[in-house]
Amino acid sequence: MSLYKEISEGKAYISVIGLGYVGLPIALEFAKKTHVVGFDIKEERVAMMRNHIDPSNELVAADFDNTDIEFTTDPEILKKARLHIVAVPTPIDDHRLPDLKPLLSATRNVGGVLKKGDYVVYESTVYPGCTEEDCVPILEELSGLKLGVDFKVGFSPERINPGDKEHTTTSILKIVSGSDAEALEEIARVYELIVTAGVHRASSIKVAEAAKIIENTQRDVNIALMNELSMIFNRMKINTFEVLEAAGTKWNFLKFSPGLVGGHCIGVDPYYLLYKAKQLGYHPQMIDSGRSINDGMAQWIASEIVKRIVGTGKNLRESRVLMLGMTFKEDVSDIRNSKVVDLIREFESFMVKVDTVDPHADATEVFNEYGLKLTEAPSGQYDVIVAAVQHDKFKNMKEKDFKKWAGRDAIFVDIKGVFKHEIKDLTYWSL
Ligand SMILES: NC(=O)c1ccc[n+]([C@@H]2O[C@H](COP(=O)([O-])OP(=O)(O)OC[C@H]3O[C@@H](n4cnc5c(N)ncnc54)[C@H](O)[C@@H]3O)[C@@H](O)[C@H]2O)c1
Repeated sequence: MSLYKEISEGKAYISVIGLGYVGLPIALEFAKKTHVVGFDIKEERVAMMRNHIDPSNELVAADFDNTDIEFTTDPEILKKARLHIVAVPTPIDDHRLPDLKPLLSATRNVGGVLKKGDYVVYESTVYPGCTEEDCVPILEELSGLKLGVDFKVGFSPERINPGDKEHTTTSILKIVSGSDAEALEEIARVYELIVTAGVHRASSIKVAEAAKIIENTQRDVNIALMNELSMIFNRMKINTFEVLEAAGTKWNFLKFSPGLVGGHCIGVDPYYLLYKAKQLGYHPQMIDSGRSINDGMAQWIASEIVKRIVGTGKNLRESRVLMLGMTFKEDVSDIRNSKVVDLIREFESFMVKVDTVDPHADATEVFNEYGLKLTEAPSGQYDVIVAAVQHDKFKNMKEKDFKKWAGRDAIFVDIKGVFKHEIKDLTYWSL
């Protein structure tokens, strides 16, 4: 029986492996249509989801309503499913190379339960070729089955944007691909059951993998250009955001802005493409330069600020910085690969003390991940106030609020340029 038919009639089980930012919303959407097994390796996360709590803080309890889902850490339960959707992390290692351990481990779990007629769809962001070259051989070896004859695979990248309530799993057009024409059609129709924005049928798995990786690479390279411009304009003593505001009045000027590029997508995915390109004998220059500029931004910002502190005649060892925000982007709790951490470490390398406050980040998580202590509330006077992350709570503040924390000759650092018209008395610096 067709996969689509079985699922649309609520007969077949779907398993979702990896219940994070990507996996949980998909699992819950499908669980409104058919039976779902939600599998994750972290017992504490599974326990929270059983209690209708999203560990990633994106969904609310009501999002679990009217769903038929069994949360588990037991890979044996995956046996029930005919369609397996893999949405585990695809990070980089200390050498900035793809770390496929979670992906291959999830693939081994699926390979161990795969049956004739099953489908496996990968949603994790990977380099072109990964699904067919790295994952399929494991599925075939562990199941003893043959791709195309006994089971089919697909790749369907996720485009959600953490913290974005408008672009959600069901409202973003989804790219789908399959290992053959039948797989493509079946997988496309299954996703059409939940994605109201529709699906784009890519011509092959590699095309779909490449499409996802270039969406983020394009953003990374464009932000790198803005960051480079801001280093030039800083020397010219002009404000980059003012330049962009003026240039942005042209109809075809692209609207990117400078800043810290953290998180586990834009700052990571280009390394997957770099890795694969180099493996194929091509050494990308633009993508590599973009990465190197963006990875070096925190260091550059800190050194510019340190020069200014010294310029006020202060002793660095006695200087204090107040860092407003620590997560990788605004209004999310995710601290992974946050470049604010690089900024803090850079200040600390100059012996400058940093107090960091963040209404969204979890203090224990910050300590476990980075060995850094969050400050509950600012105390005393600071020499530098850095508006690092534009959480709503900070964005709505006025200069008088900041002035309460400002010491003599304090510098206000506005990384995203949002307080440009607000700060009149404090010394203002932005990219
Ligand atoms: N977060 C985003 O906005 C976003 C957007 C598009 C694409 N992606 C991609 O989607 C994939 C998943 O990202 P995410 O943000 O959902 O990650 P996440 O870290 O939020 O969640 C991953 C989940 O997978 C679990 N996990 C780890 N290893 C596992 C394994 N071997 N088996 C089962 N579960 C395992 C973790 O415990 C966690 O619950 C990545 O490839 C990422 O690049 C993420």
